[in-house]
Amino acid sequence: MSAPLHSPRRYDPRVAVYPGSFDPLTNGHLDIIARGTRIFERVIVAILVNEAKQPLFSLAERVAMAREALGGVRGAEVDTFDGLLVEYVARVGAGVVVRGLRAISDFEYEYQMALMNRRLNDGVETVFMMPAEQYVYISSRLVKEVCMLGGSVAGLVPDGVERRLMEKRAAVSR
Ligand code: PNS
Repeated sequence: MSAPLHSPRRYDPRVAVYPGSFDPLTNGHLDIIARGTRIFERVIVAILVNEAKQPLFSLAERVAMAREALGGVRGAEVDTFDGLLVEYVARVGAGVVVRGLRAISDFEYEYQMALMNRRLNDGVETVFMMPAEQYVYISSRLVKEVCMLGGSVAGLVPDGVERRLMEKRAAVSR
């Protein structure tokens, strides 16, 4: 068997990275972050730079929305990353990657990512967390689709995100 990218090393188990595109952040994400801060001293919300995914919101907008929504959440911080997630996690010295699991349908992709990340760096553990039941059907993709087609996303996303989604909708219908 070939060696992993990094030899196993212990990083700080009190520091967790919660990575994602966050295009945009939803109340489901917020719920996971709040739960994460009950377990970990620091939860770094790491927003993926990758423009190849063609996000609706620019990186600056996604960061601004996350910072605004997390203003009152102690222990949560916002950062951006590019390239391999495990490289970023090692760079910030975190010991844990947090991912939300909503339904069985999330599981296969998440399981593959967790095992690939472990192969790349066995010093980082992935921890899955379940959001509150009222959020299990919410995804950034559905929120964008519903809003762009004229539906209400009130209660599904933070107020600042809702406002910016409406602005995007108004801009495309001009
Ligand atoms: O919630 P998302 O948007 O599906 O997040 C996916 C994310 C950002 C966690 C994943 O795409 C990722 O880690 N990208 C960074 C590149 C990388 O490390 N790829 C290998 C993952 S096994």
